[in-house]
Amino acid sequence: MKTLDDLLRVGVTGRRVLVRSDLNVPLSKADGDTAREVTDDGRIRASLPVLEKLLDHGARVIVAAHLGRPKGEPDPQYSLRPVADRLATLLGRPVEFALDTVGESARLMADGLGDGELLLLENVRFNAGETTKDGELRAEFAEALALLTGGEDEGGAYVDDAFGAVHRAHASVYEVARLLPHYAGDLVQEEVAVLRRLTDDVERPYVVVLGGSKVSDKLAVIDALLPKVDRLLIGGGMCFTFLKAQGHEVGDSLLEADQVETCRRLLAEAGDRIVLPDDIVVSADISDDSETEVVRADAIPAGMKGLDIGPVAVHSFAAVLAEAQTVFWNGPMGVFEVRPFAAGTSGIAEAVTSAGGLTVVGGGDSAAAVRALGVDENRFGHISTGGGASLEYLEGKDLPGLTVLEEI
Ligand code: 3PG
Repeated sequence: MKTLDDLLRVGVTGRRVLVRSDLNVPLSKADGDTAREVTDDGRIRASLPVLEKLLDHGARVIVAAHLGRPKGEPDPQYSLRPVADRLATLLGRPVEFALDTVGESARLMADGLGDGELLLLENVRFNAGETTKDGELRAEFAEALALLTGGEDEGGAYVDDAFGAVHRAHASVYEVARLLPHYAGDLVQEEVAVLRRLTDDVERPYVVVLGGSKVSDKLAVIDALLPKVDRLLIGGGMCFTFLKAQGHEVGDSLLEADQVETCRRLLAEAGDRIVLPDDIVVSADISDDSETEVVRADAIPAGMKGLDIGPVAVHSFAAVLAEAQTVFWNGPMGVFEVRPFAAGTSGIAEAVTSAGGLTVVGGGDSAAAVRALGVDENRFGHISTGGGASLEYLEGKDLPGLTVLEEI
Protein backbone atom coordinates (compact mmCIF):
# COMPACT_ATOMS: atom_id res chain seq x y z
CA MET A 1 0.00 0.00 0.00
CA LYS A 2 1.51 3.36 -0.99
CA THR A 3 1.29 6.07 1.62
CA LEU A 4 0.94 9.81 1.69
CA ASP A 5 4.67 10.10 2.43
CA ASP A 6 5.40 8.21 -0.82
CA LEU A 7 3.36 10.83 -2.66
CA LEU A 8 5.09 13.70 -0.89
CA ARG A 9 8.48 12.25 -1.78
CA VAL A 10 7.55 12.39 -5.48
CA GLY A 11 6.35 15.96 -4.95
CA VAL A 12 2.91 17.53 -5.03
CA THR A 13 3.56 21.21 -5.69
CA GLY A 14 1.05 22.44 -8.24
CA ARG A 15 -0.70 19.06 -8.42
CA ARG A 16 -4.38 18.64 -7.64
CA VAL A 17 -4.87 15.97 -4.99
CA LEU A 18 -8.31 14.58 -4.16
CA VAL A 19 -8.50 13.66 -0.46
CA ARG A 20 -11.38 11.56 0.90
CA SER A 21 -11.86 12.56 4.52
CA ASP A 22 -14.44 11.40 7.05
CA LEU A 23 -16.03 14.66 8.17
CA ASN A 24 -19.30 13.03 9.23
CA VAL A 25 -19.74 14.93 12.49
CA PRO A 26 -22.79 15.72 14.64
CA LEU A 27 -24.43 19.12 14.09
CA SER A 28 -26.69 21.17 16.34
CA LYS A 29 -30.41 20.93 15.56
CA ALA A 30 -31.82 23.28 12.93
CA ASP A 31 -33.42 26.21 14.77
CA GLY A 32 -35.12 28.87 12.64
CA ASP A 33 -32.52 31.03 10.90
CA THR A 34 -29.67 30.08 13.24
CA ALA A 35 -26.91 28.32 11.30
CA ARG A 36 -26.24 24.75 12.40
CA GLU A 37 -22.95 24.19 14.15
CA VAL A 38 -20.59 21.27 14.57
CA THR A 39 -21.13 19.87 18.08
CA ASP A 40 -18.21 17.42 18.11
CA ASP A 41 -15.26 18.14 15.82
CA GLY A 42 -13.18 15.05 16.66
CA ARG A 43 -13.25 13.71 13.11
CA ILE A 44 -12.37 17.10 11.63
CA ARG A 45 -9.39 17.41 13.98
CA ALA A 46 -8.29 13.87 13.10
CA SER A 47 -8.33 14.83 9.42
CA LEU A 48 -6.11 17.91 9.80
CA PRO A 49 -2.60 16.38 9.71
CA VAL A 50 -2.97 15.00 6.17
CA LEU A 51 -4.50 18.20 4.86
CA GLU A 52 -1.80 20.30 6.51
CA LYS A 53 0.99 18.12 5.12
CA LEU A 54 -0.38 18.40 1.59
CA LEU A 55 -0.95 22.14 1.84
CA ASP A 56 2.52 22.72 3.29
CA HIS A 57 3.96 20.84 0.32
CA GLY A 58 2.15 23.10 -2.14
CA ALA A 59 -0.60 20.72 -3.26
CA ARG A 60 -3.94 21.98 -4.52
CA VAL A 61 -6.21 20.02 -2.23
CA ILE A 62 -9.77 18.97 -3.08
CA VAL A 63 -11.57 17.33 -0.16
CA ALA A 64 -14.51 14.97 -0.71
CA ALA A 65 -16.60 13.93 2.28
CA HIS A 66 -20.09 12.88 3.34
CA LEU A 67 -22.43 14.01 6.09
CA GLY A 68 -25.33 11.88 7.30
CA ARG A 69 -27.39 9.82 4.94
CA PRO A 70 -29.16 12.09 2.43
CA LYS A 71 -31.05 10.33 -0.34
CA GLY A 72 -28.77 10.95 -3.33
CA GLU A 73 -29.90 14.52 -3.94
CA PRO A 74 -29.14 17.91 -2.38
CA ASP A 75 -30.75 18.31 1.04
CA PRO A 76 -29.76 21.49 2.93
CA GLN A 77 -29.92 19.84 6.36
CA TYR A 78 -26.96 17.67 5.32
CA SER A 79 -24.85 20.45 3.81
CA LEU A 80 -21.16 20.38 4.68
CA ARG A 81 -21.15 24.21 4.94
CA PRO A 82 -20.89 24.20 8.79
CA VAL A 83 -18.05 21.71 8.49
CA ALA A 84 -16.24 23.98 6.02
CA ASP A 85 -16.43 26.80 8.58
CA ARG A 86 -15.06 24.65 11.41
CA LEU A 87 -12.36 23.22 9.15
CA ALA A 88 -11.20 26.73 8.23
CA THR A 89 -11.02 27.70 11.91
CA LEU A 90 -9.08 24.59 12.88
CA LEU A 91 -6.72 24.80 9.90
CA GLY A 92 -6.21 28.52 10.38
CA ARG A 93 -6.40 28.90 6.59
CA PRO A 94 -9.19 29.73 4.15
CA VAL A 95 -11.38 26.85 2.98
CA GLU A 96 -13.15 27.29 -0.35
CA PHE A 97 -16.54 25.56 -0.39
CA ALA A 98 -18.14 24.23 -3.59
CA LEU A 99 -21.92 24.37 -3.82
CA ASP A 100 -22.05 21.00 -5.56
CA THR A 101 -20.00 17.82 -5.85
CA VAL A 102 -18.90 17.62 -9.50
CA GLY A 103 -21.04 20.36 -11.05
CA GLU A 104 -20.11 23.79 -12.34
CA SER A 105 -19.24 25.21 -8.93
CA ALA A 106 -16.88 22.33 -8.06
CA ARG A 107 -15.25 22.32 -11.51
CA LEU A 108 -14.61 26.07 -11.61
CA MET A 109 -13.29 26.16 -8.07
CA ALA A 110 -11.06 23.11 -8.56
CA ASP A 111 -9.63 24.69 -11.74
CA GLY A 112 -9.02 27.94 -9.90
CA LEU A 113 -7.10 26.43 -6.94
CA GLY A 114 -3.62 27.79 -6.33
CA ASP A 115 -0.69 25.97 -4.72
CA GLY A 116 -1.35 25.33 -1.02
CA GLU A 117 -5.08 26.08 -1.34
CA LEU A 118 -7.97 23.86 -0.25
CA LEU A 119 -11.45 23.26 -1.63
CA LEU A 120 -14.14 21.26 0.19
CA LEU A 121 -16.81 19.79 -2.07
CA GLU A 122 -20.44 19.69 -0.99
CA ASN A 123 -21.65 16.37 0.53
CA VAL A 124 -20.77 13.58 -1.96
CA ARG A 125 -24.00 11.81 -0.96
CA PHE A 126 -25.94 14.63 -2.66
CA ASN A 127 -25.07 12.70 -5.82
CA ALA A 128 -26.89 9.37 -6.27
CA GLY A 129 -23.75 7.96 -7.92
CA GLU A 130 -21.92 7.90 -4.59
CA THR A 131 -23.80 5.10 -2.86
CA THR A 132 -25.90 3.46 -5.58
CA LYS A 133 -25.70 -0.28 -6.15
CA ASP A 134 -25.59 0.47 -9.90
CA GLY A 135 -21.89 0.02 -10.71
CA GLU A 136 -22.09 2.10 -13.90
CA LEU A 137 -23.54 5.10 -12.09
CA ARG A 138 -20.92 4.82 -9.38
CA ALA A 139 -18.16 4.64 -11.98
CA GLU A 140 -19.57 7.71 -13.74
CA PHE A 141 -19.56 9.73 -10.53
CA ALA A 142 -16.07 8.50 -9.64
CA GLU A 143 -14.83 9.59 -13.06
CA ALA A 144 -16.25 13.07 -12.57
CA LEU A 145 -14.58 13.28 -9.14
CA ALA A 146 -11.24 12.11 -10.56
CA LEU A 147 -11.52 14.69 -13.36
CA LEU A 148 -11.60 17.49 -10.79
CA THR A 149 -7.90 16.75 -10.34
CA GLY A 150 -7.31 16.92 -14.11
CA GLY A 151 -6.77 13.14 -14.11
CA GLU A 152 -3.54 11.14 -13.85
CA ASP A 153 -1.99 12.76 -16.96
CA GLU A 154 -2.21 16.16 -15.34
CA GLY A 155 -0.70 14.98 -12.05
CA GLY A 156 -3.95 14.17 -10.28
CA ALA A 157 -3.69 11.86 -7.25
CA TYR A 158 -6.02 10.40 -4.63
CA VAL A 159 -5.41 10.09 -0.90
CA ASP A 160 -7.84 8.11 1.24
CA ASP A 161 -7.82 9.36 4.80
CA ALA A 162 -11.45 8.51 5.61
CA PHE A 163 -10.93 5.54 7.88
CA GLY A 164 -14.56 5.79 9.07
CA ALA A 165 -15.78 5.10 5.52
CA VAL A 166 -13.36 2.36 4.35
CA HIS A 167 -16.06 -0.28 4.86
CA ARG A 168 -18.22 1.41 2.22
CA ALA A 169 -17.84 0.41 -1.46
CA HIS A 170 -18.83 3.93 -2.46
CA ALA A 171 -17.65 5.93 -5.48
CA SER A 172 -15.49 8.38 -3.52
CA VAL A 173 -13.97 5.58 -1.43
CA TYR A 174 -13.53 2.72 -3.87
CA GLU A 175 -14.05 3.45 -7.61
CA VAL A 176 -12.18 6.74 -7.65
CA ALA A 177 -9.08 5.10 -6.16
CA ARG A 178 -8.87 2.91 -9.25
CA LEU A 179 -8.80 5.93 -11.55
CA LEU A 180 -5.90 7.82 -9.97
CA PRO A 181 -2.56 7.00 -8.35
CA HIS A 182 -3.75 6.26 -4.81
CA TYR A 183 -2.24 6.56 -1.36
CA ALA A 184 -3.24 5.80 2.22
CA GLY A 185 -3.45 8.86 4.45
CA ASP A 186 -1.84 8.97 7.90
CA LEU A 187 -5.14 8.47 9.74
CA VAL A 188 -5.99 5.34 7.76
CA GLN A 189 -2.51 3.93 8.44
CA GLU A 190 -2.64 4.75 12.14
CA GLU A 191 -6.11 3.27 12.64
CA VAL A 192 -5.17 0.05 10.86
CA ALA A 193 -1.96 -0.28 12.87
CA VAL A 194 -3.89 0.02 16.16
CA LEU A 195 -6.74 -2.30 15.15
CA ARG A 196 -4.18 -4.88 14.05
CA ARG A 197 -3.01 -4.99 17.68
CA LEU A 198 -6.56 -6.05 18.61
CA THR A 199 -6.53 -8.95 16.19
CA ASP A 200 -2.91 -10.25 15.99
CA ASP A 201 -0.86 -11.28 19.04
CA VAL A 202 -3.25 -9.62 21.46
CA GLU A 203 -1.90 -9.02 24.95
CA ARG A 204 -4.10 -10.74 27.54
CA PRO A 205 -6.42 -10.43 29.34
CA TYR A 206 -8.31 -9.01 26.36
CA VAL A 207 -11.57 -7.37 27.43
CA VAL A 208 -14.19 -5.96 25.05
CA VAL A 209 -16.99 -3.68 26.25
CA LEU A 210 -19.98 -3.35 23.93
CA GLY A 211 -22.97 -1.08 24.30
CA GLY A 212 -25.29 0.96 22.13
CA SER A 213 -28.90 0.39 21.32
CA LYS A 214 -29.08 -2.26 18.63
CA VAL A 215 -27.95 -5.79 19.37
CA SER A 216 -28.54 -6.77 15.73
CA ASP A 217 -25.73 -4.37 14.66
CA LYS A 218 -23.29 -6.10 17.00
CA LEU A 219 -24.04 -9.80 16.53
CA ALA A 220 -21.47 -10.30 13.79
CA VAL A 221 -18.71 -8.69 15.81
CA ILE A 222 -19.70 -10.66 18.93
CA ASP A 223 -19.50 -13.87 16.89
CA ALA A 224 -16.06 -12.90 15.59
CA LEU A 225 -14.72 -11.72 18.94
CA LEU A 226 -16.00 -14.46 21.23
CA PRO A 227 -13.27 -16.97 20.40
CA LYS A 228 -10.61 -14.27 20.94
CA VAL A 229 -11.63 -12.38 24.09
CA ASP A 230 -11.23 -13.26 27.73
CA ARG A 231 -14.28 -11.23 28.75
CA LEU A 232 -17.04 -9.49 26.80
CA LEU A 233 -18.91 -6.95 28.94
CA ILE A 234 -22.30 -6.00 27.55
CA GLY A 235 -24.30 -2.91 28.53
CA GLY A 236 -26.43 -0.29 26.77
CA GLY A 237 -29.77 -0.91 25.12
CA MET A 238 -28.46 -4.12 23.62
CA CYS A 239 -28.12 -5.84 27.00
CA PHE A 240 -31.88 -6.26 27.38
CA THR A 241 -32.16 -8.77 24.55
CA PHE A 242 -29.45 -10.81 26.32
CA LEU A 243 -31.27 -10.48 29.67
CA LYS A 244 -34.45 -11.68 27.97
CA ALA A 245 -32.46 -14.61 26.52
CA GLN A 246 -31.53 -15.50 30.11
CA GLY A 247 -35.23 -15.69 30.87
CA HIS A 248 -35.70 -12.31 32.59
CA GLU A 249 -38.49 -9.82 31.98
CA VAL A 250 -37.23 -6.46 30.73
CA GLY A 251 -40.35 -4.25 31.12
CA ASP A 252 -40.49 -1.55 28.43
CA SER A 253 -36.74 -1.64 27.76
CA LEU A 254 -35.36 -1.89 24.24
CA LEU A 255 -35.81 -5.43 23.00
CA GLU A 256 -35.13 -7.09 19.66
CA ALA A 257 -37.42 -10.07 20.06
CA ASP A 258 -36.19 -11.69 16.83
CA GLN A 259 -32.63 -11.79 18.19
CA VAL A 260 -33.40 -13.49 21.52
CA GLU A 261 -32.64 -16.94 20.13
CA THR A 262 -29.27 -15.81 18.73
CA CYS A 263 -28.38 -14.19 22.05
CA ARG A 264 -29.28 -17.45 23.82
CA ARG A 265 -26.90 -19.34 21.52
CA LEU A 266 -24.12 -16.80 22.13
CA LEU A 267 -24.59 -17.00 25.90
CA ALA A 268 -24.39 -20.80 25.75
CA GLU A 269 -21.23 -20.68 23.63
CA ALA A 270 -19.57 -18.00 25.73
CA GLY A 271 -19.94 -19.55 29.17
CA ASP A 272 -18.65 -17.02 31.69
CA ARG A 273 -16.91 -14.91 29.05
CA ILE A 274 -20.04 -12.80 28.42
CA VAL A 275 -20.74 -10.61 31.44
CA LEU A 276 -24.09 -8.83 31.73
CA PRO A 277 -24.92 -6.01 34.18
CA ASP A 278 -26.04 -6.99 37.69
CA ASP A 279 -28.24 -3.93 38.07
CA ILE A 280 -30.04 -1.43 35.88
CA VAL A 281 -31.20 2.19 36.21
CA VAL A 282 -34.89 2.24 35.27
CA SER A 283 -37.42 4.99 34.72
CA ALA A 284 -40.85 5.44 33.21
CA ASP A 285 -39.63 8.29 30.96
CA ILE A 286 -36.48 9.86 29.54
CA SER A 287 -35.86 13.45 30.59
CA ASP A 288 -33.47 15.52 32.66
CA ASP A 289 -35.98 15.34 35.53
CA SER A 290 -36.81 11.65 35.23
CA GLU A 291 -37.38 9.82 38.50
CA THR A 292 -35.06 6.85 38.50
CA GLU A 293 -34.68 3.65 40.46
CA VAL A 294 -31.89 1.09 40.52
CA VAL A 295 -33.15 -2.50 40.29
CA ARG A 296 -31.58 -5.90 39.90
CA ALA A 297 -31.19 -6.88 36.25
CA ASP A 298 -33.46 -9.88 36.82
CA ALA A 299 -36.17 -7.74 38.40
CA ILE A 300 -37.00 -4.94 35.95
CA PRO A 301 -40.58 -3.90 36.78
CA ALA A 302 -43.29 -3.99 34.11
CA GLY A 303 -43.85 -0.56 32.54
CA MET A 304 -40.29 0.63 33.32
CA LYS A 305 -37.49 1.17 30.82
CA GLY A 306 -33.91 0.19 31.52
CA LEU A 307 -31.86 3.27 30.55
CA ASP A 308 -28.40 2.76 32.05
CA ILE A 309 -26.34 0.13 33.80
CA GLY A 310 -26.42 0.46 37.59
CA PRO A 311 -23.62 1.18 40.12
CA VAL A 312 -23.00 -2.48 40.98
CA ALA A 313 -22.56 -3.27 37.28
CA VAL A 314 -20.13 -0.36 36.87
CA HIS A 315 -18.18 -1.69 39.83
CA SER A 316 -18.00 -5.27 38.53
CA PHE A 317 -17.19 -4.20 34.94
CA ALA A 318 -14.47 -1.92 36.35
CA ALA A 319 -12.98 -4.84 38.31
CA VAL A 320 -12.69 -6.88 35.09
CA LEU A 321 -11.20 -3.89 33.24
CA ALA A 322 -8.64 -3.32 35.98
CA GLU A 323 -7.04 -6.68 35.13
CA ALA A 324 -7.04 -6.12 31.34
CA GLN A 325 -3.98 -5.62 29.17
CA THR A 326 -6.00 -4.91 26.02
CA VAL A 327 -9.39 -3.17 25.94
CA PHE A 328 -11.72 -2.33 23.09
CA TRP A 329 -14.84 -0.32 23.92
CA ASN A 330 -17.68 0.42 21.52
CA GLY A 331 -21.05 1.89 22.42
CA PRO A 332 -22.45 3.81 25.40
CA MET A 333 -23.80 1.98 28.47
CA GLY A 334 -27.01 3.99 28.60
CA VAL A 335 -28.78 7.10 27.37
CA PHE A 336 -25.73 9.16 28.36
CA GLU A 337 -27.02 12.32 26.63
CA VAL A 338 -29.66 12.64 29.38
CA ARG A 339 -28.14 13.42 32.78
CA PRO A 340 -29.89 10.80 34.99
CA PHE A 341 -28.66 8.04 32.64
CA ALA A 342 -25.04 9.11 32.09
CA ALA A 343 -23.33 7.57 35.13
CA GLY A 344 -22.85 4.12 33.60
CA THR A 345 -21.06 5.44 30.51
CA SER A 346 -18.98 7.87 32.63
CA GLY A 347 -18.03 5.08 35.02
CA ILE A 348 -16.96 2.77 32.22
CA ALA A 349 -15.00 5.57 30.50
CA GLU A 350 -13.16 6.12 33.78
CA ALA A 351 -12.53 2.39 34.22
CA VAL A 352 -11.25 1.99 30.63
CA THR A 353 -8.79 4.86 31.08
CA SER A 354 -7.52 3.21 34.26
CA ALA A 355 -6.85 -0.16 32.56
CA GLY A 356 -3.25 -1.05 31.77
CA GLY A 357 -1.93 -1.79 28.29
CA LEU A 358 -3.70 -0.78 25.10
CA THR A 359 -7.12 0.89 25.41
CA VAL A 360 -9.07 1.61 22.24
CA VAL A 361 -12.39 3.41 21.93
CA GLY A 362 -14.07 2.47 18.69
CA GLY A 363 -16.82 4.33 17.02
CA GLY A 364 -17.90 7.82 16.17
CA ASP A 365 -20.66 7.68 18.82
CA SER A 366 -18.49 6.27 21.59
CA ALA A 367 -15.79 8.83 20.84
CA ALA A 368 -18.36 11.62 20.88
CA ALA A 369 -19.73 10.24 24.18
CA VAL A 370 -16.29 10.34 25.76
CA ARG A 371 -15.82 13.97 24.73
CA ALA A 372 -19.38 14.99 25.68
CA LEU A 373 -18.84 13.55 29.17
CA GLY A 374 -15.67 15.60 29.51
CA VAL A 375 -13.30 12.63 29.81
CA ASP A 376 -9.77 13.57 28.75
CA GLU A 377 -9.20 11.93 25.36
CA ASN A 378 -5.47 11.63 26.01
CA ARG A 379 -6.11 9.09 28.75
CA PHE A 380 -7.13 6.51 26.12
CA GLY A 381 -4.53 4.71 24.02
CA HIS A 382 -6.47 5.39 20.84
CA ILE A 383 -9.85 6.82 19.94
CA SER A 384 -10.88 5.46 16.59
CA THR A 385 -12.75 7.69 14.15
CA GLY A 386 -14.45 4.64 12.67
CA GLY A 387 -17.66 3.19 14.07
CA GLY A 388 -18.87 0.62 11.54
CA ALA A 389 -15.40 0.52 9.98
CA SER A 390 -13.62 -0.51 13.19
CA LEU A 391 -16.30 -3.12 13.97
CA GLU A 392 -16.08 -4.60 10.46
CA TYR A 393 -12.29 -4.64 10.72
CA LEU A 394 -12.55 -6.63 13.95
CA GLU A 395 -15.08 -8.95 12.32
CA GLY A 396 -12.33 -9.77 9.81
CA LYS A 397 -14.36 -8.50 6.85
CA ASP A 398 -12.79 -7.26 3.65
CA LEU A 399 -12.92 -3.47 3.72
CA PRO A 400 -13.24 -2.20 0.13
CA GLY A 401 -11.58 1.14 0.86
CA LEU A 402 -8.48 -0.66 2.17
CA THR A 403 -8.42 -3.43 -0.43
CA VAL A 404 -8.43 -0.92 -3.27
CA LEU A 405 -5.44 0.91 -1.78
CA GLU A 406 -3.47 -2.35 -2.00
CA GLU A 407 -4.06 -2.47 -5.77
CA ILE A 408 -1.17 -1.17 -7.85
C1 3PG B 1 -19.63 6.73 10.27
O1 3PG B 1 -20.28 7.65 10.78
O2 3PG B 1 -19.43 5.64 10.86
C2 3PG B 1 -18.96 6.96 8.95
O3 3PG B 1 -18.86 8.32 8.66
C3 3PG B 1 -19.71 6.22 7.89
O4 3PG B 1 -21.02 6.71 7.78
P1 3PG B 1 -22.19 5.76 7.24
O5 3PG B 1 -22.42 4.71 8.27
O6 3PG B 1 -23.37 6.67 7.03
O7 3PG B 1 -21.70 5.15 5.94
